[in-house]
Amino acid sequence: MITVVGNLKGGTGKSTVAFNLAVWLAKQGKKTALFDLDPQNTFKDVLDVRLEEGYEPCLSSAGDLIALESLAKKPSAEVVIDVSIADKAAMLAAIKRADRVVIPCAPSQADIWSTQKFLSMIETEVGDKKIFAFINRADTHHMVVETQEAEEALDMLKGVKRLPVRLYQRTAYRRSFSEGLAVFELNAYDKAAQEVLTLAALLYPQYV
Ligand SMILES: Nc1ncnc2c1ncn2[C@@H]1O[C@H](COP(=O)(O)OP(=O)(O)OP(=O)(O)O)[C@@H](O)[C@H]1O
Ligand SMILES: [Mg+2]
Repeated sequence: MITVVGNLKGGTGKSTVAFNLAVWLAKQGKKTALFDLDPQNTFKDVLDVRLEEGYEPCLSSAGDLIALESLAKKPSAEVVIDVSIADKAAMLAAIKRADRVVIPCAPSQADIWSTQKFLSMIETEVGDKKIFAFINRADTHHMVVETQEAEEALDMLKGVKRLPVRLYQRTAYRRSFSEGLAVFELNAYDKAAQEVLTLAALLYPQYV
């Protein structure tokens, strides 16, 4: 299955989510391919650290659509693709090929608007697609109402299903990338790990 993690907006956690999902899939014993269609090449750095440290499973990432085409023909492989508007043509080609799109959305009105624009871009340029969204970088303070409001706004958007999970703003993500580890590999019992594991289970219930 091909899953694109995308959003028009920068910094919403696309690479973080794609990396964590890919490590989780590989740990479940699935043949996993990670694609980086963002010119920033975020995965190269984090996967280099992972390789240097010798962490298993070892993952590599590819950045070309030709490799994606050949993998797409193998239904057994799990493909996770990080896309960016910086390469719009590649982003749309990947979405066309994908079985579904997952949108991490930060809890702000600007992010809701940009999610709305992303959805209409997909509808216009690709057509019908299975699309999921969830709130990433939710505020941990219980008095902050933006997360709840953003979820309600996501529920109002057409053509997208909101996943019942929140990834809160947690310091574990910073450490995770610099150490080349998914957050659940740092400490499987902390909150960030539990949230990412919930997200993975919602997206891949067949592997839990
Ligand atoms: N839930 C979270 N809690 C704390 N930090 C987070 C969380 N999600 C992402 N981050 C941090 O936010 C920053 C941006 O995340 P990331 O690079 O994954 O976003 P992106 O959408 O891929 O950005 P870009 O558009 O630049 O590619 C990173 O420093 C990452 O560690
Ligand atoms: Mg990124």
